[in-house]
Amino acid sequence: TLDISRLHSELGYFTYDPGYGATASCKSDITYIDGNEGILRYRGYPIEQLAENSSFLEVAYLLLYGELPTSDQFAAFDRDITYHTMVHEKVNNFISGFHYNAHPMAILSGVVGSMAAFYHDKLDVNDPEQRDLAAKRLIAKMPTIAAAAYRHYMGWPSAYPRNSLKYSERFLHMMFSVPAEDYEVNPVAAKALDLLFILHADHEQNASTSTVRLVGSTGANPYACTAAGIAALWGPAHGGANEAVLNMLNEIGSVDQVGKYVEKAKDKNDPFRLMGFGHRVYKNFDPRATIIRKACHEVLDDLGQADPLLDLAMELERIALEDDYFVERKLYPNVDFYSGIIYKALGIPTSMFTAMFAIGRTVGWVSQWLEQSATPHRIGRPRQVYTGAGERDYVPIERRN
Ligand code: ACO
Repeated sequence: TLDISRLHSELGYFTYDPGYGATASCKSDITYIDGNEGILRYRGYPIEQLAENSSFLEVAYLLLYGELPTSDQFAAFDRDITYHTMVHEKVNNFISGFHYNAHPMAILSGVVGSMAAFYHDKLDVNDPEQRDLAAKRLIAKMPTIAAAAYRHYMGWPSAYPRNSLKYSERFLHMMFSVPAEDYEVNPVAAKALDLLFILHADHEQNASTSTVRLVGSTGANPYACTAAGIAALWGPAHGGANEAVLNMLNEIGSVDQVGKYVEKAKDKNDPFRLMGFGHRVYKNFDPRATIIRKACHEVLDDLGQADPLLDLAMELERIALEDDYFVERKLYPNVDFYSGIIYKALGIPTSMFTAMFAIGRTVGWVSQWLEQSATPHRIGRPRQVYTGAGERDYVPIERRN
């Protein structure tokens, strides 16, 4: 039995909060969410304004340092990030050792964890300068590693970061340039990608960021913390949802099948859920989903593409939002419901979607890790309510039956 009253009297205060729905694990100045009103702000700036006016790298600066940069500050930050985009050649060797169709998230978590072995000389987490350097290295190298994972799958030779390009352009160039052909980055694609990176950059104490902080609370190095965050992001209930949404839309196949799948999602005997729907914090529209839905239309128009999956997704949203099951539970489309349609339009394969999320979220992970490291904190150590056997005596194996 759950003897919480005994734990109360032993410890003074004890709460049982599975999934931590009502427990704040830290104080933070970085991201504000009001889930009932559908509000998201980075350092006080509404996500809508940043999406409209800013760039991913500027948002990265804002999240890391708390203020929008001046022109000089931005130029210096851009220079620093650009300086660190290369990975050690042995990182490429490491990637080449993976099976050709290894999942990009498996490669990403392994390779990012291994960065502690490549940059072990500057790993003093008590030194603010070394922490800043590690944060910049992670932001700069994540796209390089993610693109390398894709190229490994394709069997293409490594593409080195072209530092005359901007952050999102550079990533697209590393992904899609092949030696035999000239590859020009489409500015519409780069702008759309930059927007998606902004929208994914931080989201306070989600599962992966909390993982980064929990690992960080032990004093572990930032590469280990970030690798743990990548692993947590991979799950379909978190960042893996963007891949799962596209697979689901493909499985539904046509608009006339939508009703059937909505019914399936309501059936408690069926494990199927509408992927890209629902959120622990938002009990209203996820403001990021609203921005991405609009961007979906604009990007497809600008690229001159039509995607029947967008019609399908909109029909799914329409039917679900008229259904009592979804209305009563306040289940709305989340950030991942429409993002995959944009990634697909940019030519990014479904298996890379969660790695795309990881590139954007790296900024949030390292910002939160920097904030934690710069302030006094205790090791994260949740408790449990023990529900197992009471004390019993050991029985030798020959006497067990
Ligand atoms: N489809 C159908 N029913 C759902 C869905 C869904 N997508 N999401 C929640 N529900 C139902 C649950 O079955 C539950 O019903 P009940 O009260 O009758 O038991 C109720 O809504 C509450 O759901 P919980 O699972 O308790 O909500 P929780 O806050 O723990 O989970 C989560 C949130 C994981 C996002 C969930 O909504 C889900 O699995 N969604 C689909 C996966 C997804 O899109 N994940 C991405 C989240 S955003 C991100 O990480 C970037």
